[in-house]
Amino acid sequence: MTSIRLAVEADIHHGDDHMTKLGSAALPLLCAFARFVAEARPDAVIDLGDRISDRDRDRDLVLQHEVAAAFRLIDAPVYHLCGNHDRGHLDVADNEAILGQSLANTTLDIGAWRLVLWRADSRICRPAHDGQHGFVLAEPDLLWLANVVREADRPLAIMSHVPISGHAQIGNYYFERNPSLSTYPGAERARAVLRMARVPVVCIAGHVHWNTLRLVDGIPHLTLQSLTESFTTHPAPAAAWALLELGEAIAWQVHGADRFAQTLDPAATLRRWVPPLARIGESAR
Ligand SMILES: [Fe+2]
Repeated sequence: MTSIRLAVEADIHHGDDHMTKLGSAALPLLCAFARFVAEARPDAVIDLGDRISDRDRDRDLVLQHEVAAAFRLIDAPVYHLCGNHDRGHLDVADNEAILGQSLANTTLDIGAWRLVLWRADSRICRPAHDGQHGFVLAEPDLLWLANVVREADRPLAIMSHVPISGHAQIGNYYFERNPSLSTYPGAERARAVLRMARVPVVCIAGHVHWNTLRLVDGIPHLTLQSLTESFTTHPAPAAAWALLELGEAIAWQVHGADRFAQTLDPAATLRRWVPPLARIGESAR
């Protein structure tokens, strides 16, 4: 089977330096990423979102245009997702106009794999259903993913801004004390959708600004370090991007100052684990 290769970057956060996000380094690092892509010649480039650090509508439009101009240096098909900072003061339509592409949920077959661009709603600054601020996993987004999984006749590489593994945030600069903002409330419903898969699946997300692999029910969930984050590589930015090779193996390699590599067997992602035990004391012997 011929393998396919995807270059992936996340959380560019172009703008002012803010906490450990070194947004002033974003454009030079994007140029370095463009040089990497020119050398690696992947089949496609995926931008997992949070292209800017948002401030107000006028400023955000300028920042988004500057990032879009940097992406025009890349000589490969580029697919963007929106993160919460791309939606702070801008609509999806604003981002679509600037980037020149639809940002609706879509799939794309590349070689033997199906690239799933799950552009689920990534706004964060609004009251959620329970009155708290947070993400909302919109029902149409969940149902769209369920349909993709149900209809899949080839392996799925699912891209989203927000991770749905529900992995622990201990040690994470942003999310150790704010874990509810690290994922969707109700992400377990998305994981239940993935459990229906009868084809190999790998999930890739940004947002949490660190490299992780979390296996849930046999399915690998990877998160990619941000291009400009510095909490793991202080005081320098992580300068992270990844190459994902999909073929006989799922090979994930993060380049830059925060290196991380994993090799996974696609067939192993088809295994479904024994459902977790009930609370001790309530379970049968
Ligand atoms: Fe984010």
